[in-house]
Amino acid sequence: MKKVFIRTFGCQMNEYDSERMLLLLKDEYVPCAEPKEADLILVNTCSVRQKAEEKVYGLVGRLKHLKRSRPELVIGVCGCVAQQEGEKLLKRLPHVDLVLGPQAVYRLPEALAKVRAGEGPVVDVEFRKGFRQPLVLPEFDGHRPVKAFVTIMQGCDNFCAYCVVPHTRGREVSRPPEEILAEVECLVRQGVREVTLLGQNVNSYGRKEKGFPSFAALLREVASIPGLWRVRFTTSHPKDLDEELMRCFAEVPEVCEHLHLPVQAGSNRVLARMNRRYTREEYLEKVRRLREICPEIALTTDIIVGFPGETDEDFRQTLSLLEEVRYHEIFSFKYSDRPLARSTAFEDKVPEEEKARRLALVHELQNRITREINESYIGRVEEVLVEGPSPGNPELLTGRTRTNHVVNFEGPAGLKGQLVHVLIEGCGQHSLRGRYLETVNPPKGEA
Ligand code: SAH
Ligand code: SF4
Ligand code: F3S
Repeated sequence: MKKVFIRTFGCQMNEYDSERMLLLLKDEYVPCAEPKEADLILVNTCSVRQKAEEKVYGLVGRLKHLKRSRPELVIGVCGCVAQQEGEKLLKRLPHVDLVLGPQAVYRLPEALAKVRAGEGPVVDVEFRKGFRQPLVLPEFDGHRPVKAFVTIMQGCDNFCAYCVVPHTRGREVSRPPEEILAEVECLVRQGVREVTLLGQNVNSYGRKEKGFPSFAALLREVASIPGLWRVRFTTSHPKDLDEELMRCFAEVPEVCEHLHLPVQAGSNRVLARMNRRYTREEYLEKVRRLREICPEIALTTDIIVGFPGETDEDFRQTLSLLEEVRYHEIFSFKYSDRPLARSTAFEDKVPEEEKARRLALVHELQNRITREINESYIGRVEEVLVEGPSPGNPELLTGRTRTNHVVNFEGPAGLKGQLVHVLIEGCGQHSLRGRYLETVNPPKGEA
C-alpha cells in the first residue's frame, strides 16, 4: 500500500471533505503521520482570512525539498485556496501536481490517475452545473469514533460582503435526505453516538430543491435513527432561523441545547454594509424567542471587528450586544480583506492597530462573561458523552455537555462512548472540571 499524508485547515466542512478524500483513496493508500514518509501529500486549505491562506503557502512551500529528492512524490493543494487561486497557484508553488477546488476533491481519483499518466499538473476548479456530492460511506477500521460530521449541503448563496466562501464553494446545493440518512445510519452502525450536520447555512437546507424536507424536518428524521443519542448542527444564519427549527430544541430529545448563531456585529449600519439582512433588533428578538422555547440553550457566535467603516460607536454596539446576549463562547476575528469579497473595495478601512485594540476589548469582555457562565455550572449535574481520555491529561476523561461545554473529569476506565452524569466541581476559561456519578445511557438502547 502507498502512503498518504493529509493536512487540513479551516472549517468542519473541510475536515469532512478530507475524510472523504481518504475514503476515496482507501484501496490504494493508507494514511501516515509524516510528510516525509508519504507518496501523496494533500493539503486541504482555507482562505477565509489572509492568515489562513498564508499558512498554506508556508506549509506547501516547505515541501519543495521533498519533491526535489523524490520526484515521484505527488503533492495536491485542495479546498478553498485552490479554488480561489486555480492555475495561479502553480506559479507560486511550481512543485504542486494537483489543484482541486472543494467540488473537485470528489474527483480526486481521476485527477490522480492523470498525474500518474504524466498528464499533470492537473487543475480542477470547475463548478459543474448540477454538481452533487457523491455518497461516500464512512468506514472506520479498528478505531470507533464517538462523534462525526455529516455535510448536508454544499456552498452558500448569501454573499456577505466580507466573505470568500460563496466564491470558493459555489452555490448552495442540498444533498438528498435519503443519502444523509443512509450516511448517518452507517455511522451509527459503527458506534457513532453523536452527529453534527454541516452546512454554511443549514437553515436554508432543501429550499431550492423540489420535494426536499425543511431543515427542521430533516433534523427530526435524523434524530429518530435508533442508536443515535445526540444531534447538533452548524451553521445557522440568523435571517433564516425560524420557529419550526427553534421548536426542535424543546421537542426533540436528541437535539442538543446549543446553537451557534453568528451575529458578526452589533450595529445596524455595519450589519447592513455586511449584507447580513437582519437588524440587531431582529436578531435579539430571535434570541429572546429561542430562550423562551428552550431556557437552558447555550448560544455561541462569531464576531468581526474593524469591518470597513466601523466607527467607535458602531463597535461599542458590538460590545453592548455581547453584554445583552451573554454568549457562552464566541469566535472573534479582525476583519481581513479577501480577494473576490465585495468589502475589499470599500474605502474606509479600519487601521490594523485599531482592529487589534477592538479585538482585545472583545476578548476581555467575553472572557469575563464566559468565566461567569462556567462558574454557574459548578454544583450542577451534567449529562456528558464520553469521548475518551483527556488530551491534556490522560488521567482524566473528556466529553461534552449537551450545551457543548468541554468537561474533563475523574472516572473509571472503559466509559468511552457512554452517556454519563458528571458532577461539576470546578472550571477554567475553556472547560469544566468534574467527577463521574453514574452511567445514564438512554432507553432507546444500543444500536
Ligand atoms: N457560514 C458560516 C461561517 C462562515 S466563515 C456563517 O455564515 O457564519 C466563519 C466566520 O469567519 C464568519 O462567521 C466570520 O465571522 C469570519 N469571517 C468570514 N470572512 C471574514 C473576513 N473577511 N475577515 C474576518 N473574518 C471573517
Ligand atoms: Fe460567508 Fe455569509 Fe455565506 Fe456564512 S452566510 S458562508 S458568512 S457568505
Ligand atoms: Fe475556510 Fe473554505 Fe471553510 S474558506 S472556513 S475552508 S468553507
